[in-house]
Amino acid sequence: MKPSLRPQNQCFSSGPCAKRPGWSPSVLQAALVGRSHRSKSGRARIQEVIDRSRALLGVPADYHLGIVAASDTGAMEMAMWSLLGARGVDALAWESFGQGWVTDITKQLKLPDTQVLAAEYGGLSDLAAVNWEHDVVFTWNGTTSGVRVPDASWIADDRAGLAICDATSAVFAMDVPIAKLDVVTYSWQKVLGGEAQHGVLVLSPRAVERLESYQPPWPLPKIFRMTKGGKFMQAVFQADTINTPSMLVVEDALDGLKWAEEIGGLPALIRRSEANLEAVAAWVARAPWVDFLADDPHTRSCTSICLKIVDPWFTGLPAEDRASAAKKVASLLEAEGVAYDIAPYREAPPGIRIWGGATVEHSDLEALFPWLDWAWRQIKGQ
Ligand SMILES: Cc1ncc(COP(=O)(O)O)c(C=O)c1O
Repeated sequence: MKPSLRPQNQCFSSGPCAKRPGWSPSVLQAALVGRSHRSKSGRARIQEVIDRSRALLGVPADYHLGIVAASDTGAMEMAMWSLLGARGVDALAWESFGQGWVTDITKQLKLPDTQVLAAEYGGLSDLAAVNWEHDVVFTWNGTTSGVRVPDASWIADDRAGLAICDATSAVFAMDVPIAKLDVVTYSWQKVLGGEAQHGVLVLSPRAVERLESYQPPWPLPKIFRMTKGGKFMQAVFQADTINTPSMLVVEDALDGLKWAEEIGGLPALIRRSEANLEAVAAWVARAPWVDFLADDPHTRSCTSICLKIVDPWFTGLPAEDRASAAKKVASLLEAEGVAYDIAPYREAPPGIRIWGGATVEHSDLEALFPWLDWAWRQIKGQ
């Protein structure tokens, strides 16, 4: 029998993520469309996003937060191509996005003194092996494996290198201690459910010091340049973006930030996401056919919650059949209009990935679980 209750919002994608509860296109009505982003009003709107983001995330006063092109990838590339090469690099990768940064460092920038700390899907890089004499590049939350760093205790306060963190699936849902990091990047379409295409880049005073004291040997396109005549271009981190942002997207980002403030700020966002993880964990404990992909419960992500299928019928199938059986869970629930985009990332092991960030309602997850069990029974032919 099909469950009778359906999630009110069927969006469980890990990016772009569900819009915040109550969102409708009317929140964009006041957007400064057709206006110059360099006008007084345009700049004020961009500055408002910067100010509200800083306040919500508790960005230290001497850090810079700016809006850059090309989403989180743009912000990370900008940071890596501008800062790396001054000293050795440690690059941590336990899933596909971290692996992407490793590729940049080893195959594009071709940095010779690089230590890659890799782990398989489900695992976490050996954090104790990190050399803090080096610059360290890592993701706070591995979106495609659902494995996050458990805390910040492994990040050395007396480090010589820079801590460069891709935090796009973590900020606004996890305690990411910005004051312990030198570079933090994220994009708007994740935890606050904003529209995509703009990246946010946060820099510590030490990162700025590096920008002003080191010039990489490779050419830097205009879109990456943060210095002029060897001086940090602070205006880029106020409202003078390097190129043109979408004022519609800026308006949507503001809507997400205001919603976050209204519900109680960062602690409330984190609570919502952690409660979603707890709900999934309680269901997984009841459902014998699934388990977390994360090997260590302390590393389970509360945003990109990745599950593997452990049913002996399934694990006994040949690899291709496992992949196609797992895909059917997502396609069946999409066809039923119950859940969208819950298939894992294309390079990740077969299973299910459910976004549990703050915009997802706990009640929608509770409504989803019986459907997941139902889908599994259909696939097994029971
Ligand atoms: C950890 C991580 N890094 C980078 C990206 C790429 O982000 P964007 O599409 O905002 O560039 C993603 C997207 O899911 C991600 O999860």
